[in-house]
Amino acid sequence: MKIFTVIYFIIIGLLSFHLFQEKTKAESIEAGAEIYQDFCVQCHLTNGKGVSGVFPPLQASDYLLANIDRSIAGIKYGLKGKIVVNDEEYDGVMNNQGLDNEEIADVMNYILNQWGNKSDSFVTSEAVDQIQKSILE
Ligand code: HEC
Repeated sequence: MKIFTVIYFIIIGLLSFHLFQEKTKAESIEAGAEIYQDFCVQCHLTNGKGVSGVFPPLQASDYLLANIDRSIAGIKYGLKGKIVVNDEEYDGVMNNQGLDNEEIADVMNYILNQWGNKSDSFVTSEAVDQIQKSILE
């Protein structure tokens, strides 16, 4: 009988480990690709190049990579007013897209590692949760 109890706890243990496990970076990027298609592609385009003077690029964007927390805040709270991206000025409005912290983390991991972009950072939903709006001021 005892052996069944042991097996029972092993199975429960494995199941809960699986359920509560955080996404890996690769899984997060994969989820982010889908979010990008649904919420970002209409402005920043499939190739991440945006539209010069209107929608800033994400591919090789110095703004995006210079301060990842600030970029997260723009997606989380929305972004408006003058910014300079790769020596070009933008003065537009990006509304917050209504994503939750995990979705923002996923889409950040995607854009940080797409179109030749590379980042060692791994954005988590906990990190997104900590980002304050004041970083944009
Ligand atoms: C309706 C068009 C639109 C959508 C949809 C949109 N953006 Fe933007 N995005 C903009 C504009 C316009 C700016 C510049 C705002 C400004 O001038 O202050 C911007 C700025 C940015 C920036 C900072 C500048 C840069 O190019 O590095 C990032 C990062 C960004 N967007 C990511 C995203 C992500 C990720 C999504 C999807 C979750 C998204 N955007 C959806 C229009 C959009």
